[in-house]
Amino acid sequence: MCGIVGYVGRAEATPILLDGLRRLEYRGYDSAGIAIVDAHHKIETRKCAGRIASLSKLIAAKPVSGSYGISHTRWATHGKVTDENAHPHFDATGRLALAHNGVIENYQALKEQLIQDGDTNFRSETDTEVLAHLIGKLYIDSCATTVDVEQKKGRLVNAVRTALKQVIGTYGIAMVHADIPDFIIGARRGSPLVLGVGKDENFLASDVSAIVAYTRDAVYLNDFDVVAVERGKFEISSLAGEAGDRQVSKVEFTAEDIKKGDYPHYMLKEIFEQPVSVHDAMRGRLSLEECTAKLGGLNMNPQQLREVERIVLTGCGTALHAGMVGEYVIESLANIPTEVEYASEFRHRNTPMPNNTLVFAISQSGETADTLGALRESRRKGHRTLGICNNVASTIARESEGGVYMHAGPEIGVAATKSFTSQLVILTLIGLLLGRMRNLSTAEGSRMIGALEALPDQIKEVLQLNDQIEAIAKKYLEVNGMLFFGRQFNFPIALEGALKMKEITYLFAEGHPSAELKHGIIALVRPDLPSVFIAPDDAIFSKNLNNMEQVKARKGPIIALTSSDGAKKLKGIADDVITLPDIPDCLMPILSVIPLQLLAYHVAVGLGRDVDKPRNLAKSVTVE
Ligand code: G6P
Repeated sequence: MCGIVGYVGRAEATPILLDGLRRLEYRGYDSAGIAIVDAHHKIETRKCAGRIASLSKLIAAKPVSGSYGISHTRWATHGKVTDENAHPHFDATGRLALAHNGVIENYQALKEQLIQDGDTNFRSETDTEVLAHLIGKLYIDSCATTVDVEQKKGRLVNAVRTALKQVIGTYGIAMVHADIPDFIIGARRGSPLVLGVGKDENFLASDVSAIVAYTRDAVYLNDFDVVAVERGKFEISSLAGEAGDRQVSKVEFTAEDIKKGDYPHYMLKEIFEQPVSVHDAMRGRLSLEECTAKLGGLNMNPQQLREVERIVLTGCGTALHAGMVGEYVIESLANIPTEVEYASEFRHRNTPMPNNTLVFAISQSGETADTLGALRESRRKGHRTLGICNNVASTIARESEGGVYMHAGPEIGVAATKSFTSQLVILTLIGLLLGRMRNLSTAEGSRMIGALEALPDQIKEVLQLNDQIEAIAKKYLEVNGMLFFGRQFNFPIALEGALKMKEITYLFAEGHPSAELKHGIIALVRPDLPSVFIAPDDAIFSKNLNNMEQVKARKGPIIALTSSDGAKKLKGIADDVITLPDIPDCLMPILSVIPLQLLAYHVAVGLGRDVDKPRNLAKSVTVE
């Protein structure tokens, strides 16, 4: 949610900042801006509503030059999407520029105080501008006497600390001041910020993907850190002014990993990466000998695992849907009562949770504000809280007591795809591990392992259906929406199929348990509203078939996903049948979601949508 990049070094800052912003565009793309301090100690800024491409054009028409600066790509929270509201924002003197990710909740009160103190120079409606003005005022007040540059640096850092202590809300910020050469300041609370350490140059960014092309040495800042960054050094301190010692870590992936390659969109690339990402999610975690899963990252001994009485899975969006599948899978494999909770609801209510409840926060980015809030709340209540994250250095990964990494590689497309199937694999491994400590026999454990190991090849088979799915998508470009139905393990896949369709095609789409059709949804059925049924030939196939007949009788088109025997039985009922490989019921969601990802993708492409950057969305939602 909003992306920040800062640079200080010997190179020309503009191309580095623009390149970084392009890589962060998944975080928000309502407007963008850049502020560079030029050789005459003047801040040059270019900003506009629209995407990085519009900003690049603006800069091409009126170039900016300098070796340090900051930049921002925005997902609007406070204030409309306009040029004025685009970041960076300035203080009252116009000598300080600030880019911000997060929400300053008490900005109105702070603004009123500044206005009372005589500040009338506000140019935008944003909370960010208020913070810039506050820091600027505190800095000027502290520089009443003439000071040298080194003293100015200290005073600016102090002004940042004093201002941030008055702030209620969240922030990741990057800042420059025209009076202090080759110096940028960063700070974070609740919104991620990473420092990239280069040779005679340093970087700030919301996410390492923005800077990995320049350096793979990174320092992940903690909440309440303030960092003063220069060409050859950086200094981290807390809001209270205590020096902070942080380790430099190596970024796991390279710039190559975040390229689109030959694919037209990241989303398609990531869908096609699933044989590998699913394999990586279970690599080294299966023990054929003991017929179980090995998840050392949980940091729990067998006794503690044995004592788990209840599991809560929490997350948002696609991660929540993974949790919903996880509920079915864990209960069926381990027979442990499992609940799924919307992170945004869970964190604000008093869910009864007995001792020995294990909470899993599921999040690809590891930065989703609501999921992080849920994690913190369950820790506050004394529950063991673990993360299922893709982003290794993310806040959720760092604040949980253990967990399981997805190792899916960077996911850039805003619509989550490969992270979802990795989450499903991990939840299955958790079910297998806990199941084998309870009711699951060695024979059943061994069968599960065999089926898990076969998954990557089966996913490859499913991906071969791409042409068929593209042809189906083309038939349905004129529709008024789509309904998705499934039962049991595949009910959450109906939700996920509908979410993918909504997110990237903007078509109306809803997912439901198939049996709910007759309780209201059937009123929607008509020839221009196809229904997608996920109906493998399992114990409840005939019930799904009844629901399909009900749609058919009302002239609703049907697209059915099934397994080999089901395909024969669906002749004459479904208009289109997508046949999936046979697989144990609890693993079917890992296969059945893939045609739905592809269906949404091809409908979106057919409708000319911006697949990787859908309207109004952002990949990493760090506001509540
Ligand atoms: C946003 C994204 C979704 C994603 C959700 C949770 O809403 O648009 O695609 O599923 O956040 O993200 P997380 O990083 O926590 O998995």
